[in-house]
Order: sequence, then C-alpha cells, then structure tokens
Amino acid sequence: MQEDCTKQGGMTYFYSGANQSYTYYAISNPNDCEKVANSCTEKVFLLEDSLQAFFGQALATTTVPDWEKRRTLMEPMFDAASARTGVWNRHAKILVEELESKVGKGFFDQTECLQNAAMGILLKSTYGDIEDELQSIASHKTCMQETMDVLYERHRSFMKHKTFIFRLSRLKRRQDACVRTMKALTNELITMKRVEFKKKSASETLLDFLLGLEIQGVSSEKNTVDDIHGIIFGGYSTLVNSLTFILVMIGSNPEVQERVYTEIQNVLSDSTREVKMDDLNNFIYLHAVILEVLRLYPVVSILTRKTKNSMDLSKYSIDPGSNCLLFIHAMNRHHSWGAEREAFKPERWLDGSSRPPYATFGLGRRSCIGMKLALSSMKVILIHLLRDYKVIADIKKLVIKQELLLTPVSGHYIALERRSKTLSSSFQPQDVHC
Ligand code: HEM
Repeated sequence: MQEDCTKQGGMTYFYSGANQSYTYYAISNPNDCEKVANSCTEKVFLLEDSLQAFFGQALATTTVPDWEKRRTLMEPMFDAASARTGVWNRHAKILVEELESKVGKGFFDQTECLQNAAMGILLKSTYGDIEDELQSIASHKTCMQETMDVLYERHRSFMKHKTFIFRLSRLKRRQDACVRTMKALTNELITMKRVEFKKKSASETLLDFLLGLEIQGVSSEKNTVDDIHGIIFGGYSTLVNSLTFILVMIGSNPEVQERVYTEIQNVLSDSTREVKMDDLNNFIYLHAVILEVLRLYPVVSILTRKTKNSMDLSKYSIDPGSNCLLFIHAMNRHHSWGAEREAFKPERWLDGSSRPPYATFGLGRRSCIGMKLALSSMKVILIHLLRDYKVIADIKKLVIKQELLLTPVSGHYIALERRSKTLSSSFQPQDVHC
C-alpha cells in the first residue's frame, strides 16, 4: 500500500473502518510528510476508547493543549534517563549470559532474550531498583503483549471499531482484564516508590520526575499512571523489533559486522569494560548501521495527523480537519534517497551530505521523546553482544508483517559463534544483503 502510494505520485486517499466516514489522505512524499508533521501535532485515533482505557492522557495519546504543556516538562526527564549507561550495561551483560547457552547450537529465536533486556531497561529507567525484578519483568511483558494483541485484534476487526459492537464482544472483556492487570502492576510499584521518593534529594528515575511534576501541581496522580503505561508500551516492542532487525541485518553482512567489531576494539581498547556515556559518541559506524537498518525497517511505519489549517502540498491541497497518514516505510525508501535507496548502505550516513527527512523516530515536534534513550541503550546492548559473539542470520529469509508495528514473523532467527580475533571458516564474507 505504501509503495503504491509512491507510485501514484506520493499521495492518495482511501476509506478505512466500518463505514466511509473514515477518509484518510495517505502521503509518502517526504517533503509533504515533513510539511504536515511540522505544522500539525494533533493525531487521529481510530480506536480512541481503547487507547483511553489503556493509556488515558499519556503524552502519546493526550490532546494537543495538554501535550504542549507536558512535552516541554518531560523532555529533561528523558534527557536524564538517556544518560544512565549503568542500567543498559547491566541488562546487556545479563543478555550476553542468557545467550551463552545458544553459542554454537545453530539458529534459535532470540526474541524472548531481547524482550527481557528491553523490559528490564524500561522498568529500571522508570522505577529504579525493584524487589522482585524477574517477576516484574515477566508480568509486564505478558501485559504489554496482551495490550498489543487486543489493540491489533480490534484494529483488524472492522465491525469492532464501532463502540456499541465492541462493548458486547469478548475482546472488550479481554481489554478490561488487561487494563485491570496493568493498573494493578503500576499502582503497586508507584505506591512503594512514593515512600522512597519522599526521602530522596534528587530525581533519579522517570517516576521520580513524574512525582516531582505532581508536587509542582502541573500533573496529577492519574497523569503519572497514564504516562508510565505510555512509556513502557511506547518503548517495549519498538526496542525489541528494532533490535531484531538490526541483529538480522548485521548477521547477514559479515563485513559490516567486522567493521563494527573493529570499532568496538578501537573505542574500548580491546577491553571488556563497561560502556560509558562518552564512549557512545565515538561509535560513529555503529550509529550509522543502526540508522540505516531502521531506515529500511521503521517499526512505527505509519504516523497519523489531523490538519488544523488547509495545506498546499506538492500536488494537492487538503482541507482543515483532514485525516492524514504519513507513510514512513515508503518515505524512508523514497527515490530521493538515491538509486540505491533499497540497499543497506551504512556509508550513506558517513559522508556528511544532505539527506531526505528520516522519519523512523517520527517527524516534527511530536516525534519520539525516547529516541536518545532508545539509540543509546541499543548501542550498549549491541556492543556487549558483538564483542563476545559473532551473529549469523539470513535477511533474505526475513518475513515481516504490518501489525500495529512492523513485526518480524519468520526468518529472523540468529545463530551465535564465540568471538575470536579471526573470521572462522564457517563464516564467509558474502555480498551485502538487504
Ligand atoms: C527504536 C525504538 C523506537 C522507535 C522506532 C520509536 C518511534 C516513535 C515514533 C515514530 C513516535 C511518534 C509517534 C507519532 O507521531 O504518532 C514515537 C513517540 C513516542 N515514543 Fe518512541 N520509539 C522508540 C523507542 C521509544 C522508547 C524507548 C520510549 C520510552 C522510553 C519511547 C517513548 C515514546 C513516547 C512517550 C512517544 C510520544 C511522544 C509525544 O507524543 O510527544 N519511544 N516513538
């Protein structure tokens, strides 16, 4: 659908939902997408009642006036959380240990290990130390997966878009049960942390910042719960799916992997020490590899916006109040990226030339507030993993599906070999695959 939109000149329209009242203007022309995203911050929520039940007034789902007020206040809190390398080193080490049993045993599904690492990082960044961490990771993972499944199931059952039909369905009862579990998990942790917060002199975690906003009177207890749901949901599967795509791509391109490994040795002087914040700025090639994989596989592949004013785009004009879908997958592979737009070429990020807008983390003012945290934590995980193991994968076998996120469904398994300084005989350099 996204490619077709580009073929039709970068903009098209369609109807979606149980009746024709949902008209969408789909846009894949990068300049037009950027124009819409820069001038509009209101989103179109197809399943508004479900989103409200799960996330209420979280940053990602709240109305524009509330968003304007809270986005500015929340940016410093994400900046602080993006510097907590200790958290990522710890979970990266746990991941490396978990994967140890898989070395030399052929292809396996790495998803569960990545899920543990991603949820571990999110819970630690949000709450700090948690008493029964393993149990918390497990229950939050189950709950986030159920949230994703309920939203996706409703999304694809058009008749259940209608609130009165949805209310009568089994899916609604599943949603209610999931919301209850999510609230119980969050309330239990917040209640414990409120007591600790009163004794603290400075904010250390995302929750501390949110509790600080409550004390300043700019946020409510409900906002805090909603925001935590939004942060954990917003960060969890995006991290897991992105890491999967990155590992599969690196595992399919041995010469890229060797270059990343050389960079790791150069920056960390061949040691096994922890990665520090200052080190991360020196991982220039790894940064390019991550951006390039996520250009080709943007896990959030569609953004929605509602226009406030009429807008003149490159070929058409649209009215105020129009529902727009910004097609990120098509935009990231648009011909403005050059003849090799479909190829995996990390070098394109290194030559300093100007590039078309990159939309993997969103566009305009309402783009991803967790981007720095996501990029830095993924780098630390990859550094730990790639300095101990060689990853083998075959991206030609990768099958992806557009669920709520762009999701790998098969062909994403990897195999691991223990690192030695030279390439092993079973690991022959091949052409760059994509
Ligand atoms: C590779 C990982 C990630 C990707 C690709 C990604 C992508 C995105 C995108 C495209 C948006 C914009 C959505 C829109 O305009 O409708 C967004 C928003 C958001 N993301 Fe991320 N994200 C990632 C990781 C994270 C993490 C780790 C967190 C939290 C710790 C997070 C929290 C959020 C929040 C709260 C918003 C809403 C921002 C707002 O409305 O102002 N994301 N993300």
